[in-house]
Amino acid sequence: MNVNLERSGPQPVVQTQVDESGEVFTHTKVQPEDHVVHDWYQFVLSFPPLLVRHYLKKFNMNPGKTVLDPFCGTGTTLVECKKLGIPSIGIEANPIACFATRTKINWNVDPRGFQRHALAVAEAARRKLEAQGLGEIDHLPLFATRRKAATKLFTLSSECSKLILKNSISPLPLHRTLVLLDALNTFNDPRFSAHERLALAKAVVFSISNLHFGPEVGVASPKRDAPVIAAWLEEIEGMTNDLIQLRCKNRVPAVAYEADARYPLSVLQPNSIDAVITSPPYPNEKDYTRTTRLESVLLGFIKSKTDLRSLKQSLIRSNTRNVYKNDQDDSLVAEHAEIQDIAKKIEARRIALGKTSGFERLYARVTKLYFGGMVRHLSELRTALRPGAHLAYVVGDQASYLRVMIRIGNLLADIAKSLGYELVDIELFPTRLATATKERLREEVIVLRWPGAKNY
Ligand SMILES: C[S@@+](CC[C@H](N)C(=O)[O-])C[C@H]1O[C@@H](n2cnc3c(N)ncnc32)[C@H](O)[C@@H]1O
Repeated sequence: MNVNLERSGPQPVVQTQVDESGEVFTHTKVQPEDHVVHDWYQFVLSFPPLLVRHYLKKFNMNPGKTVLDPFCGTGTTLVECKKLGIPSIGIEANPIACFATRTKINWNVDPRGFQRHALAVAEAARRKLEAQGLGEIDHLPLFATRRKAATKLFTLSSECSKLILKNSISPLPLHRTLVLLDALNTFNDPRFSAHERLALAKAVVFSISNLHFGPEVGVASPKRDAPVIAAWLEEIEGMTNDLIQLRCKNRVPAVAYEADARYPLSVLQPNSIDAVITSPPYPNEKDYTRTTRLESVLLGFIKSKTDLRSLKQSLIRSNTRNVYKNDQDDSLVAEHAEIQDIAKKIEARRIALGKTSGFERLYARVTKLYFGGMVRHLSELRTALRPGAHLAYVVGDQASYLRVMIRIGNLLADIAKSLGYELVDIELFPTRLATATKERLREEVIVLRWPGAKNY
């Protein structure tokens, strides 16, 4: 759901709904427990934990069932399932998001041991920085004036520097971060390493870097310096407290696969899924790899242009930056009249407006590729679903391409029906105002039911 949750942790969503049983479903309040684990690291467009709880209840999910989120992002669905004792599976193609989900569902960590280890790593990094005249005192860095003349700041390789957004991190904070990463490598303890690195990813994005999200990722005025170790330890402390609370629930099965959800059978067993709760990407020019670029590069998930390209190729085509010559998903919607009409309308408007850039020329194609990718996903998913499985797809209308309205919910519902799914409902959520058109855009949840193989 495209609610305003970019990088900001759980926030209130103002919405009250009454479902068919008369139950009032209110999104207005973020519960204190919504911060537990979800706050470890969240990225673009995560949906509210409350929404997941609502559908788990509506679909009567219990510890004997298995829930899937095929576009699990940073793991909201899996974390909620685990908190409620319900087994879950996630699929995510972006390695940093998949890593975040995996770490967020691993509560089998000795909290005090984790904290002690992190403090030892912090101490080592601190000593190194102090020796360089770059120590952090009382949670504030000492500024460069004290830097020893001989200290050469650590930097990224030139290939990695080109991958991140320009000026997304200033030289001193970057140096401190690399010193901390060095200490994490030197004192690597596999029991704690993922959690320690995820804490650094969060600290880098929110406290150390120059990034801002409003809602697109951008670069704010550069910070000269930032207290890296203190920011990291603050995240470690939050994680420690959550781990103390949740360790007893660690036995609930949850697994996240780094895979392409257009081919769910590459990781799922046939007839194994009782419910799907997910928010897929939309065709909206949002480049998910850009939003997570800095931490992906720092933690080594993307090391080269080739890595970036293969990551983009594993994503549903939802922006013109990840369209490739050999893409063929559009062939799967060649017979879908409405999607073809939308593509023609976009292309006609492009020509009328005299828009000729390479990206603008791809607007019509990416729209068809997007829906073709979703056909692929929904089609192969059928084999993994148990008869009677419930599905909730959170989507929203879009008008990103030359203001041509794309009713994504209606189109996906139509595609699902043509594949044998039953459309149970399209539930409305608060509307967003499209920045470009000032039109009200619908946020909705497509509720489907899989009746079993008889229909295909
Ligand atoms: C709207 S976000 C989901 C956010 C998620 N609900 C959360 O709470 O964090 C959509 C996700 O789909 C992922 N994605 C895009 N194409 C994919 C594909 N083909 N296979 C798996 N994941 C994909 C993106 O990387 C992104 O993380």
